[in-house]
Amino acid sequence: MLLPTFFILFVLSGFGLCKLYEDVADLPGLHYDFVIVGGGTAGNVVANRLSENPHVSVLVLEAGPSNDGVLDSEVPFLSAEMFLNPTYSWNYTTTPMPGFNGRSVPYSRAFILGGCSAHNGMVYTRGAAADFDRYAELSGDAGWSWNQLFPYFLKNEKWTPPTDHHDTRGQFNPQVHGTNGPISVSLNGFSLPTFEQKVIQTTKELPHDFPFNLDPNSGKELGRGCNLLSVAGERSTSATGYLAPKFIQRQNLHVLLHAQVSKLVNVTRKMGKPSFGGVEFRYGNSLFVAHAAKEIVLSGGAIGSPQILMNSGVGAHVTLSALGIPTVLDLPSVGQNASDQPLLITQWAVHSTDTFDPIRQNATLFAEGMAQWNASRTGPFVDSGIMTHLGWSRLAQDSPAFSVHADPSSGPDAPHLEFSFVPGGSTPGNSMSIFVALVSPVSRGSVVINSSDPFAPPLIDPGYFSNKWDLLAIRDGISLAERFVSAPTWSGFVGAMTPNLANLSSADLETAIRNMAAPNLHMVGTAGMSARGAAYGVVDPDLQVKGAVGLSVIDASVVPIVPSAHTQAGTYAFAERGSDLLKQRWGL
Ligand SMILES: Cc1cc2nc3c(=O)[nH]c(=O)nc-3n(C[C@H](O)[C@H](O)[C@H](O)COP(=O)(O)OP(=O)(O)OC[C@H]3O[C@@H](n4cnc5c(N)ncnc54)[C@H](O)[C@@H]3O)c2cc1C
Ligand SMILES: *[C@@H]1O[C@H](CO)[C@@H](O)[C@H](O)[C@H]1NC(C)=O
Ligand SMILES: *[C@@H]1O[C@H](CO)[C@@H](O)[C@H](O)[C@H]1NC(C)=O
Ligand SMILES: *[C@@H]1O[C@H](CO)[C@@H](O)[C@H](O)[C@H]1NC(C)=O
Ligand SMILES: *[C@@H]1O[C@H](CO)[C@@H](O)[C@H](O)[C@H]1NC(C)=O
Ligand SMILES: *[C@@H]1O[C@H](CO)[C@@H](O)[C@H](O)[C@H]1NC(C)=O
Ligand SMILES: *[C@@H]1O[C@H](CO)[C@@H](O)[C@H](O)[C@H]1NC(C)=O
Ligand SMILES: *[C@@H]1O[C@H](CO)[C@@H](O)[C@H](O)[C@H]1NC(C)=O
Repeated sequence: MLLPTFFILFVLSGFGLCKLYEDVADLPGLHYDFVIVGGGTAGNVVANRLSENPHVSVLVLEAGPSNDGVLDSEVPFLSAEMFLNPTYSWNYTTTPMPGFNGRSVPYSRAFILGGCSAHNGMVYTRGAAADFDRYAELSGDAGWSWNQLFPYFLKNEKWTPPTDHHDTRGQFNPQVHGTNGPISVSLNGFSLPTFEQKVIQTTKELPHDFPFNLDPNSGKELGRGCNLLSVAGERSTSATGYLAPKFIQRQNLHVLLHAQVSKLVNVTRKMGKPSFGGVEFRYGNSLFVAHAAKEIVLSGGAIGSPQILMNSGVGAHVTLSALGIPTVLDLPSVGQNASDQPLLITQWAVHSTDTFDPIRQNATLFAEGMAQWNASRTGPFVDSGIMTHLGWSRLAQDSPAFSVHADPSSGPDAPHLEFSFVPGGSTPGNSMSIFVALVSPVSRGSVVINSSDPFAPPLIDPGYFSNKWDLLAIRDGISLAERFVSAPTWSGFVGAMTPNLANLSSADLETAIRNMAAPNLHMVGTAGMSARGAAYGVVDPDLQVKGAVGLSVIDASVVPIVPSAHTQAGTYAFAERGSDLLKQRWGL
């Protein structure tokens, strides 16, 4: 059977069948039914779902390179090296932020097929049921409620046992997880038993403040539980999942890499509304136009999508006219209402080597971990090497924060704060860290273009701590983190807090927070969804741009308020439902 084997190998090697294009000259044409801008977390979901129907043609334009063979992306433990790797990043920096004492900080965004799913921390969290019920209420579309979106979370997910095959009873609830989706989700596959046991023991010693929660992905998020990751020995991304070989070989799905979209062109009027017939992009030093007969879908993410809208004359007339860009559609909310979470890392020295620090600090151990991953997809490199558990809490009812602003959370069962429990730190020796993230911010920021040059970076202002409530909430979070390690189980394990934030005056603590806080990189809302006919907002509940025809946004930017969670799972669920809405609209 030599011949058939040879034939299969030849076909699988992909020549002539591979629809991932490195060179625009190889693309068969520039006319498609649907053009998707951005092959990121959401864009590849839309590409996959639309191309399920063989009668429509789909083109994805992605600015970055292929994810294939990129070790920093594939190996979960190397994710921290990936965040700011300039080869796979847009190299963005925020504007100087008053809330951060005037600091400008790097704002990582992925520049690679798979988008942020190919370079993020892989944490898999959905949020509180009330977060989604609030989206349903403000959009007037019950389809965005927790109960109705839940099947889309499952559709995205393929629950996968951890690589060490440990007993997972008591670590998650299988009933709230999907088993057939494209994205693998698993528990940590490498154990640091001393640390993990102490986290769980704390939920027994201080159950009032830190209750245990079997599965915070059930919609009931409050409490502490195991960390889940979008991995199965290696990272699972929208590129490895939704563009897997069996999908990318569809004749009607083409993906062009190294294609940076500048703006939408060829505007006509349909029923009195603007409609764009083409998408202009740069490949090498030349500009091209890809034409969409049915619809253009923007999936450039919370920064890329509003930037492309503004470049195209869709945005606030005052901003556009100041830059000499003719207004096609005056839509003042474009780029506004950016909603993101600030993060503060608390850290303690520990009297133990049961942390990830030895592996990161000792080149021999690091090489051993890498070799083990390479040989068998087991060992410490199968996890992010960051958190083992997560926890969510509310502020106390008498928190000083509530004297400056009403509760911004989505409801009494939704958290204000997220805690990531990390057996490791950033200083020499062994440490543990608790990442304190404010997940229900009052503050809002913006993404606004700064030039008529569509390739110039926009001004990115996440607006952290522009409302005092957020600062006071993080302050309470630091106290809660200190209280966590005060549980008896940590005595003898935990040493000095580094830097020591305990016992600072409230003014000094406030300054320390402003100087130390960092972006949690979960921006949403810059092309936010609102009810049909609302006086603000960028897209309708069906994710079509308000006042335009044949133009949708499907990515994190449409989520109107950041969920009390890391944002990839929610982005996937929005993209799955957004794809269904698109298919229904076109009868596919
Ligand atoms: C470093 C980092 C760590 C994170 N960690 C986690 C985590 O652990 N868990 C979690 O749930 N969430 C995490 N997030 C957030 C989460 O990954 C994102 O919210 C989500 O993936 C966003 O998906 P998206 O589809 O909106 O955008 P993206 O995934 O960013 O996709 C946008 C795509 O569009 C492309 N693009 C942009 N502009 C253009 C253009 N003009 N022309 C062509 N292509 C363009 C980009 O290159 C990119 O591929 C993290 C984010 C970052 C940056
Ligand atoms: C980011 O910076 C690196 C190094 O300076 C550069 O090679 C890369 O092209 C930049 N990325 C983008 C998207 O501009
Ligand atoms: C579409 O727009 C491009 C770029 O502006 C232009 O070169 C092209 O002629 C336009 N095509 C049509 C059909 O109008
Ligand atoms: C921001 O969102 C709020 C609702 O959450 C809305 O009232 C406001 O008008 C929006 N602002 C802009 C500029 O779109
Ligand atoms: C690094 O780890 C190796 C293997 O366990 C060990 O032999 C070596 O002593 C360690 N080096 C240091 C500096 O701790
Ligand atoms: C992984 O193993 C293969 C085959 O043994 C080897 O060629 C490759 O260099 C290894 N890669 C890494 C990163 O260790
Ligand atoms: C914004 O544009 C101004 C004027 O061209 C320029 O001086 C400034 O550097 C730009 N800011 C950023 C962050 O690119
Ligand atoms: C804070 O002050 C109290 C009382 O003086 C002291 O017991 C405690 O050790 C201090 N905490 C830290 C981390 O310095």
